[in-house]
Amino acid sequence: MKFTTLTFLLFITTPIFSQANLYEGLPVFHGAKITGNYPNTEFTFTVPATGERPINFTAENLPKGLRIDPSNGIIRGNVVEKGSYTVKIIATNTKGKAEEDLKIEIGDKLCLTPPMGWNSWNVFTNTLDEKLVIEITDAMVASGMRDLGYEYINMDDYWHDSTRAADGSPVANPQKFPHGIKWLSDYVHSKGLKLGIYSDAGDKTCGKCFGGFQHEEIDAKVYAEWGVDLLKYDFCFVPWKKSEALSRYKKMGDALKGSGRSIVYSLCNWGLFNPWEWGESVGGNYWRTTPDIIDTWNGGPFWYGSFKSILKKQTKLYKYAGPGHWNDPDMMIVGNYGNGKATGGGGKYKGMSDLEYQTHMSLWCMLNAPLLSSCDLRSMNEPTKNILLNPEIIAISQDEKGEQARLIQTKNGVQVYLKHLADSSVAVAIFNTKKSEANFDLKAEGELAGTWNARDVWQHKETGVLKDKITLALKPHETIVLKLAPSHF
Ligand code: GAL
Repeated sequence: MKFTTLTFLLFITTPIFSQANLYEGLPVFHGAKITGNYPNTEFTFTVPATGERPINFTAENLPKGLRIDPSNGIIRGNVVEKGSYTVKIIATNTKGKAEEDLKIEIGDKLCLTPPMGWNSWNVFTNTLDEKLVIEITDAMVASGMRDLGYEYINMDDYWHDSTRAADGSPVANPQKFPHGIKWLSDYVHSKGLKLGIYSDAGDKTCGKCFGGFQHEEIDAKVYAEWGVDLLKYDFCFVPWKKSEALSRYKKMGDALKGSGRSIVYSLCNWGLFNPWEWGESVGGNYWRTTPDIIDTWNGGPFWYGSFKSILKKQTKLYKYAGPGHWNDPDMMIVGNYGNGKATGGGGKYKGMSDLEYQTHMSLWCMLNAPLLSSCDLRSMNEPTKNILLNPEIIAISQDEKGEQARLIQTKNGVQVYLKHLADSSVAVAIFNTKKSEANFDLKAEGELAGTWNARDVWQHKETGVLKDKITLALKPHETIVLKLAPSHF
């Protein structure tokens, strides 16, 4: 992209964050600045921070019951009392020191910012096993994803044994998970990460493993004993009736709430019966809004969603998203490149270009979608890492205000999405939907009336002042994301 400078005053200033900070080794915080947990349940939060190791982490005003591990910034414990706590986190290394406030909300809400992590389904489908989960956990740490706020390792379908135990308890496949799920969650937790699991509101999952119907209480109890932190609950083998969706999802939601553990609840009924209208009332933290995403810009069969068809649906749903309850347009396909039986359609879909994946990440962050990568984290190439590990676009996703972007303008195939951020700045995504290059004038009018300092979050640069208009040159399918801070000049 490039800016034209007619009405666009260039200026140089010290960036609020620069990618260079990462490489200069200074401690820099990322990701969520707020986290929620139920009272009197196990609490784990890893302070996401980059910088040369070792970093020494300390915390002031931690609520009673929590402690921070100075060597890795993992906060653990259990807070008995409900309350809002503001904790000062200090990170120090040989290069310098950083401080920030972390809000800890002990109450009845989880997922105060969109969850970040990984899900096994799109690429690995039925090849999920213990070895994979361990290797992906290690890769999430080694790649630096944990330092940017990625947290959940979500096992999807096919972790199950062929039947439940005689007493009805769920059992994992002993060949695939020889040490059992508790052992596995201990491993994931030891790295400061969290483990997700998958089940279904019918008596079978979509892969025909045993489902959760009429086993809600025992499943929630055992998941809690196993140390599971998130449940994705699917909708196969359920009569397609709204009343069934409501009652079955609520039953599992209540069981999870009563499990004695803070377990995030992900509803997956593909948008049937408008779950954005009732998902929160059944205890859901996020709900799928569409059929499964496949790894293609557009096209594909009716029962699947391309990137474009899925995006279209989200723009109308902004008012239903907020801290603790999010619209879920499905996992990210960034870096999948057509791999995997599920999203690659067994070799049928070839994936998208890196610039298109960057657009996908930009819009998922603007729309407060769960940021669940589904690629093979063990072998990400540089473009994939640059997309998934961009701290500035992640900061827009994890913004504490929790406002989902709105589509405010469409002109000549260019769409403009706008999201207000907690610090009174505004994130604006300018998306060229066309296959050809486009010039677009972003004007300082309407909600953007005023004077703004602009920072391009993909270029990692302050790019000037928006006063009258900025003319942007966009490549085919490119999205430029600007963070606009009110100017005091
Ligand atoms: C689908 C779901 C996918 C995946 C799959 C597993 O219903 O939408 O995300 O979970 O089931 O069988």
